[in-house]
Amino acid sequence: MKEPQTGKVGRYELLAKVGQGAMGIVYRAQDPTIRRIVALKVVPVDTGEPEGTSGSRGRSHGSSFDREAQAAGALLHPNIVTLYDAGRDGDWYYLAMEFIEGETFAAEIAREGRVRIERAAEVAAAVAEALDVAHERGVIHRDIKPANLMILPDRSVKVADFGIARLANASATMTTDMVVGTPYYMSPEQVRGGKLDGRSDLFSLGVVLYEAITGRRPFQADALATILNNILNTTPPAPHEVEPDIPRELSSIVMRAMGRTPEERYARGKELAGDLRGFLGATSAAAPGGNRPRSWRAMGAGALLALVAAIVLIVAGGAFKLSPVAKPAAVGYLEFVSEPSGAEIFLDGAVVGRTPYTAEVSAGQHEVEFRKDGYYPAAQSPSVEPNKRVVIELPMLARKEG
Ligand SMILES: Nc1ncnc2c1ncn2[C@@H]1O[C@H](COP(=O)(O)OP(=O)(O)OP(=O)(O)O)[C@@H](O)[C@H]1O
Ligand SMILES: [Mg+2]
Repeated sequence: MKEPQTGKVGRYELLAKVGQGAMGIVYRAQDPTIRRIVALKVVPVDTGEPEGTSGSRGRSHGSSFDREAQAAGALLHPNIVTLYDAGRDGDWYYLAMEFIEGETFAAEIAREGRVRIERAAEVAAAVAEALDVAHERGVIHRDIKPANLMILPDRSVKVADFGIARLANASATMTTDMVVGTPYYMSPEQVRGGKLDGRSDLFSLGVVLYEAITGRRPFQADALATILNNILNTTPPAPHEVEPDIPRELSSIVMRAMGRTPEERYARGKELAGDLRGFLGATSAAAPGGNRPRSWRAMGAGALLALVAAIVLIVAGGAFKLSPVAKPAAVGYLEFVSEPSGAEIFLDGAVVGRTPYTAEVSAGQHEVEFRKDGYYPAAQSPSVEPNKRVVIELPMLARKEG
């Protein structure tokens, strides 16, 4: 992806690049007028659009961009990253947002493997409440995924990039209405390119919660086409079937959020939040001390039992992934790292994400290629053993200018 050539976009002074997604680059930047630090997302205008397709959408982008930005900018909520400003500077659309000093929920999941059940339910409940407020105002997020949930130092959560999938659509980095980026969290109606309402976001949130508590994505596959087919046509095993320590009550909340049709799901974010809070209330009543700092004593018999069970499983042959339906048992992990980061990852020919990133893969040989604008592609063919993690760390060689 090309990058702004000057240290300024709009009136914002770029300080440091903090990340990159499918649609644009995020900078830590400063608004010189009021000396406020902002997260500035810059999205290229009209790049990558084939000649001739821009006619119907080209000129009118500004206004649709503005409309979307105005709707998103009107959202003021403690669990939503505030959008301060949006505009265009030459070849760039930019969005100035509240800068979050923290990490994403994707990073938390990657670090924890499985997020503690109460913690995951708490995060999902807060997100569901934020979504409810947005949906009530007619704003659909369209890209709910762990990378868009920012975790603050006090561990509270704020939803980032409200409506931005649509904004980026206006910038035509893509030629269909489909979201470019990670497909794992898309609702079936989104895959079909159908009309969306708030229940599409609730589906995506269900997928996030599923992943957080089980440590695996419900619609994971190596090839994009398989992922999309799975979203449309398969019902994944319920979370408690994947990880037996997950309470059935939580498991059915997740499965209802992920209903194949919108009618099967929660009608509103606050209903989902209510069920999650009900579950959390019941859990903390059943296990007083569950939210206190953990000590050996407080960990209690349940944790000890889980530990024993885990040891039994290890002895029984290292088969952690016991789910009979979703996956063959022989899976391992590929961790993708590049210098610089943000390279597009092709795994066996299909795009799975951008570095840094970790994917669950079938055991065996895989083809990995990193691609990044301005750099030569880098490739490797790693072999992954069951339950093992292989780190693919490739330096990217910059192409010579001109
Ligand atoms: N408001 C913010 N404050 C601080 N850092 C942010 C903020 N928004 C995004 N980031 C950082 O920038 C990174 C890239 O964000 P970006 O939204 O471009 O990509 P993404 O969410 O991974 O994918 P997508 O392009 O599909 O939204 C995030 O992973 C996060 O680390
Ligand atoms: Mg984002």
